[in-house]
Amino acid sequence: MISQHITVALEVNGQTSEVSAMADTPLLLVLRNDLQLNGPKYGCGLGECGACTVIIDGVAARSCVFPLSGAVGRKIVTLEGLGTREAPHPVQQAFIDEQAAQCGYCLNGMIMATKALLDRNPSPSEAQVRLELAGNLCRCGTHIEILRAVLRAARLMNVDGSP
Ligand code: FES
Ligand code: FES
Repeated sequence: MISQHITVALEVNGQTSEVSAMADTPLLLVLRNDLQLNGPKYGCGLGECGACTVIIDGVAARSCVFPLSGAVGRKIVTLEGLGTREAPHPVQQAFIDEQAAQCGYCLNGMIMATKALLDRNPSPSEAQVRLELAGNLCRCGTHIEILRAVLRAARLMNVDGSP
């Protein structure tokens, strides 16, 4: 099938922006190149590592294999839509507290997948966290700290009721 050039309105982090690209352009490229949202990372480009994860209508999605045309009319949240440097989201704070990073390349995906999980299930078991993040790869082997960070984030969010 031949892709078409489209101009569409995208809702990202509560703001609507007009973008023009081929309909099958990966959402990741639009976010990074057109909207300068560099939280989502390009890892494998094949939907296999999770570095590019964003949340679409409340569900974690791999933006490297998600076509622009499929994102129209949906609510997209990227890492930039969580906290700020001055006021991190509890999930981000938990990752800082647990020092859950080495190179940090996987962190966008880990944090966004965690946010989607905790919105759905505020008190996951360790086994549920392991299962949820099994498809998010960390080449540095920081998995234990990441696991601790997710469980800490759940505790933090349950205490302060953060969105
Ligand atoms: S870059 Fe999207 S899953 Fe790896
Ligand atoms: S901290 Fe390096 S890939 Fe996870």
